[in-house]
Amino acid sequence: MKILITGGAGFIGSAIAKALMDRGDKVVLMDNFNDYYDPKLKRDRIKKFLVGYDFKLYKSDIRYYKKLERIFKKESPEKVIHLAAMAGVRYSLENPLLYGEVNFMGTLNLLELSRIYGIKNFIYASSSSVYGVNKKIPFSETDNVDNPISPYAATKKSTELLAHVYSYTHKMKTTGLRFFTVYGPWGRPDMAYFKFANNLFAGKPIEIYNKGKMLRDFTYIDDIVEGMLKVLDADFDCEVMNIGAEKPEKLMDYIEVIEDKFGRKFKKKMLPMQPGDVPQTVADVSKLRKLGWQPTTKIEKGIEKFVDWYQEYYKVRK
Ligand SMILES: NC(=O)c1ccc[n+]([C@@H]2O[C@H](COP(=O)([O-])OP(=O)(O)OC[C@H]3O[C@@H](n4cnc5c(N)ncnc54)[C@H](O)[C@@H]3O)[C@@H](O)[C@H]2O)c1
Repeated sequence: MKILITGGAGFIGSAIAKALMDRGDKVVLMDNFNDYYDPKLKRDRIKKFLVGYDFKLYKSDIRYYKKLERIFKKESPEKVIHLAAMAGVRYSLENPLLYGEVNFMGTLNLLELSRIYGIKNFIYASSSSVYGVNKKIPFSETDNVDNPISPYAATKKSTELLAHVYSYTHKMKTTGLRFFTVYGPWGRPDMAYFKFANNLFAGKPIEIYNKGKMLRDFTYIDDIVEGMLKVLDADFDCEVMNIGAEKPEKLMDYIEVIEDKFGRKFKKKMLPMQPGDVPQTVADVSKLRKLGWQPTTKIEKGIEKFVDWYQEYYKVRK
């Protein structure tokens, strides 16, 4: 099986690429290596994390249809895992147009090319942020998600709508995955746990929003990858699925685990809720569980692995 992975130098993209190659699939990665966060980390995922693996890599942008078409023509992938996106809720409030161009138009480019080039299955990243300030816990795929509160969330919901069009009208198989706060080694520096670590070693206080009154379904990267493989092999006609730990943690407890694993206490700065942010995310993953998926990584173990990786990668000591 040859699979095109967009956002292949990203956190989730590089992890799923490795797992696919480990089981013998061929992968083609594409990424524009933008500087939303340090592109060196993206290059290192390719050079270090994926060292020794055999794959094709294109530095390309999903906004440019013609350039994308060359990749489809040359590589003839059978399936697509579309992860390239401008991620991050807060940044989307400052740069809504960019999110529209990349997340909406970029996804439309890929769906259209996937239709033309007969892609067998199109898996794409949605997000738990589509639930907005949903009060009902846990969040289920049947809940109404017509009330996003950030441009990011709105573009992610829009990709689900676009995928539905292609499934319904063109009989293309599509599955959207609503990821719930993914963390782990080689993770994303704009996410809270990573920023906490950076601030710790920079001697700065960590910023805690909503005075710490947050509930998050933190999901370890290996569990995410396992779920993605199951979805990729299931070839659903048209699905949208939650993928989250289903075990919400209080933010302050999560912070305590990070402190414990680094063996240090953070200086803390309590701040009000940030615009666009949601106070809680809790996944109902009964759909994915039907495929035999069960997230198993406890936060103590997951954070330990992140901390070990962080100290080694950035050459810092406890
Ligand atoms: N990590 C999470 O907790 C989380 C949660 C919900 C949804 N998601 C979604 O999952 C996907 C992967 O997330 P991630 O955490 O790996 O993020 P990431 O930022 O590490 O990966 C995304 C990759 O896409 C690339 N990219 C961005 N714009 C591009 C463009 N125009 N053309 C080509 N490449 C481009 C980036 O350079 C990056 O390497 C994203 O769609 C994100 O919105 C992630």
